[in-house]
Parts: sequence; C-alpha cells; structure tokens
Amino acid sequence: MTGSQVYLRPLTGDDAAAFVPWVNDAEVTRTLAVGAAVMDRQAEQAWIEKMNASGSDVLFGIAIQETGRLIGSIGLNQIDFRYRGASLGMMIGEKSMWGKGYGTEATRLVVRYAFEKLHLNRVQLHVYEYNLRGIRVYEKVGFRLEGVLRQEHVYDGRFWDTVVMAILREEWEKRPALPEADPRKT
Ligand SMILES: CC(C)(COP(=O)(O)OP(=O)(O)OC[C@H]1O[C@@H](n2cnc3c(N)ncnc32)[C@H](O)[C@@H]1OP(=O)(O)O)[C@@H](O)C(=O)NCCC(=O)NCCS
Repeated sequence: MTGSQVYLRPLTGDDAAAFVPWVNDAEVTRTLAVGAAVMDRQAEQAWIEKMNASGSDVLFGIAIQETGRLIGSIGLNQIDFRYRGASLGMMIGEKSMWGKGYGTEATRLVVRYAFEKLHLNRVQLHVYEYNLRGIRVYEKVGFRLEGVLRQEHVYDGRFWDTVVMAILREEWEKRPALPEADPRKT
C-alpha cells in the first residue's frame, strides 16, 4: 500500500533489530499498551513472526516513500471476520519522524486496507487520554469518540482514562475528498 509520503510493507524477522531501540524508548512506549517492558531482538523477531503467522492479525512496516527507511509499524489485531471488526495499533519509533503527517497517512492506508481488502465494517482503537498527538491523528482520519474507560490506565504514578475511538465503513465511504494539492494527504 502506497501513499504520497509513506508506504506499508510486510515485516520479516530481519526487521526486528530496527524495533529494539524504539520499543525500549520510554518516550515512544509511554503511549503504548506494551509499556516499559524491556524487549530484545529475539523478542521483537518472535513478535513479528507471530503476527505474520496469525490468522487474526496483520502487521505492516511503515517506510518513507523517498528513501525506503523503516520508521515504525501499523497493524490490525483481533480481526473478526464474523462481525467484520478489528483493532488498530501503530507506532512510529523514529521520534524525529513525528509530526510530519506520516502517522496520519499510514492510518489512512491501513483503514483503507481494512475496508477495501478485508471487507471489514468497523475499525476501533484504544488511545490514552494524554496521547493528544495520537487522538488528533485518528480524528483527522475520521475516527469518532465512542467512550471513555475511566482510570483504566496507570502511567507516571497516576490513573488515566483510555479513550475508545472507531470508524465505520459507511463513515469511511462518506469521508470528504482530500485536497490533492496537499502532499501530506492520501
Ligand atoms: C501517535 C503517532 C502515531 C502520530 O504520528 P505522527 O506521524 O507524529 O502524526 P502526524 O504528523 O500525522 O499528525 C500529528 C497531529 O497531531 C498534532 N499534534 C501534535 N502534538 C499535539 C498535541 N500536544 N496536542 C494536540 N495535537 C497535537 C499535530 O499538529 C498533527 O495534527 P495537524 O496535522 O492537524 O497539525 C506517533 O507520534 C507515535 O507513533 N507515537 C508513539 C506511539 C503511539 O502513541 N502510538 C499510538 C498509540 S494509540
């Protein structure tokens, strides 16, 4: 799947080494469910191989269009073909790559994959209330607030709410056209 700035590609065990600094960076993991667990190359390789072998998950690497540089991953988990739903998870591990529109474009690409290739009806996600950057990305793509799991999460010595957001196929189909002149949009 190719956008104007990034493309999504399969990950292999050889990509595991790139993930190690990212998943051990507290600034990256503070907004992830994985939290501050220490992860090594073997653990990352096992995770990639498990996802690739799974019938209910898909995992993609996020790579920069111009250079091919891998900057993170995005995936759909708990894919349920009966009820046609899945959960979205994403990480841009290269912090210098935050704020450039890459997360938004990667989200649009994987949501399109969910609706057009997997024929799902609903994509949902959980995001911590302090992850304002993440919430903004999901709002831009068209995810709507569905509810709040009050004080569901603990970080930095206090409780935080977990925000539940989702986008439905019918909302995706009715999304407004994006201005073509803006290279950050797909
Ligand atoms: C969350 C994440 C995927 C976002 O990716 P990104 O490439 O930085 O996002 P984009 O550049 O596409 O968009 C960021 C948006 O957030 C906005 N933003 C940044 N900081 C913000 C803040 N403190 N409050 C509100 N909005 C903020 C930006 O202005 C931009 O919106 P705009 O286009 O309207 O200006 C990335 O930062 C990341 O991987 N973080 C660590 C892991 C993570 O949080 N994953 C998601 C778990 S739910």
